[in-house]
Amino acid sequence: MAKVLVSQVDAVWLAERLHDWPDGSGPMYQRLAQAIERLVQAGEVQGGARLPAERLLSTELKVSRTTVAGAYELLADRRLVTRRHGSGTYVESVRTETPPPRESVLMRSLERNEIFDGLLDPPRELLDMRSAVIHDSPGLPQRALDAVGADVARAASLQGYVPAGLPALRAAIAARYTALGLPTEPGEVLVTSGAQQALALIAMLHVRPDDEVVTEALTHTGAIDLFVASGARLRTVPVGQQGADVDAIERVLTERPRLLYLIPSIHNPLGSVMPARERRRLASLLDEHPDLVVIADDTLADTYRDRRPPPPLGSYPGAHRVLHTGSLSKLIWGGLRVGWVRGPVPEIRRLARLKALTDLGSSIPSQLLAIRLMEEGEDFADDRRAMIAQRGRTLERALAHRLPSWTFDTPEGGLCLWIRLPGGSARELTMRAARHGVALAAGSIQSPQGHFSDHLRIPYSHSELVLTRAVDRLADAWEQHADPSPICELEDLRVVV
Ligand SMILES: Cc1ncc(COP(=O)(O)O)c(C=O)c1O
Repeated sequence: MAKVLVSQVDAVWLAERLHDWPDGSGPMYQRLAQAIERLVQAGEVQGGARLPAERLLSTELKVSRTTVAGAYELLADRRLVTRRHGSGTYVESVRTETPPPRESVLMRSLERNEIFDGLLDPPRELLDMRSAVIHDSPGLPQRALDAVGADVARAASLQGYVPAGLPALRAAIAARYTALGLPTEPGEVLVTSGAQQALALIAMLHVRPDDEVVTEALTHTGAIDLFVASGARLRTVPVGQQGADVDAIERVLTERPRLLYLIPSIHNPLGSVMPARERRRLASLLDEHPDLVVIADDTLADTYRDRRPPPPLGSYPGAHRVLHTGSLSKLIWGGLRVGWVRGPVPEIRRLARLKALTDLGSSIPSQLLAIRLMEEGEDFADDRRAMIAQRGRTLERALAHRLPSWTFDTPEGGLCLWIRLPGGSARELTMRAARHGVALAAGSIQSPQGHFSDHLRIPYSHSELVLTRAVDRLADAWEQHADPSPICELEDLRVVV
């Protein structure tokens, strides 16, 4: 029988969302119940979700267990939750008379993404260790930069609207997939403004409110936000050092979700790779679900350290409909804003129409530079990979030296370490780290359910000097965190500016 996945509301996450719950009048348990009810009504906690155990929530809220028990009882009396003996407290599905305006629901979910905060409003005084994109790189090859001026001059005599992307760039991306073992024609490629737009177009085409979207239990924050913004209900499957759990995918597919989003080739944030054997198994499973939209996000695939990941998922028997998304952002430069979707021609045509609707096509100078940079070939790519791997090793060494109780697996690639703290809340640590001049994202923002509250993602995309300085500051922050004086002014410290 299919295992029904129940979403568990994380105590740390809930405590944060309830930050102003004591405001107002009446007994504490009543105020707490009202605050939980507001979250349920706003759709932030969905029907069927299991609330945290009384003990865990009382620890996070720093109140007695009786207060939480009282609040849960009151909610149960009002039929907003069901108490199941020995199993927990479950939220009932609620119908709100007038749904809250779209922009308020949307913004509430988007504001969770601290990584985007840093991009929209870069902090001046903090070392920003939130986004995993290369900083302080030695720059792009002069030869490509010199050549592109003439390319732009030539292109400027053309009309300039090419929604599906420049034919030469589509051909270069197609050749890349062919070389990786997935034969591809230029017509099977759509150029997008980064992989993020590729994901957005696919979501726009396929995901309706209330559709089920399955992601890995840890995944790209921008994908979580996108699917939530589309109104989808998110389900997750476990992910680890061998990529997504194919058995769990098999179970969840029996419930006919609309879309499956995976990062099999250098996972964000784990840096793991799904082995060829698992890809083969997954591909044959996908063959049995012709209506399922499947995205394999290859955005980080080129950032491998020692071994190139196995051939793309779409090259295995049964997986020919898989949509591959990818980008030059991670290995070359995010500022190019050049990404793509690779998929069957009819799907690419539909997505190209949507792309035209969205922006009438990506910037031509950027695409011309992308072509020149792709022509630089493997030597250039190898140098970039070596630089990233070197930075990764620097961060690993600095952490082992200054923060030996923090644990992590050495990733197969990517731009960050996924770190487990020996205890306590990563969110509180990020508050302390901000006081010490380092902006960090708590690991829970990479989990659709807000889990992994004891994890952090630390990018190693900065220069080695910055990485070492950041770890020194984090070690100071950790010293205080490990010997905590209460942090009461958490609100003041949302320094994610
Ligand atoms: C897995 C994954 N997909 C997509 C993106 C978006 O990348 P781009 O800069 O190409 O839009 C990112 C960026 O962090 C990512 O990690």
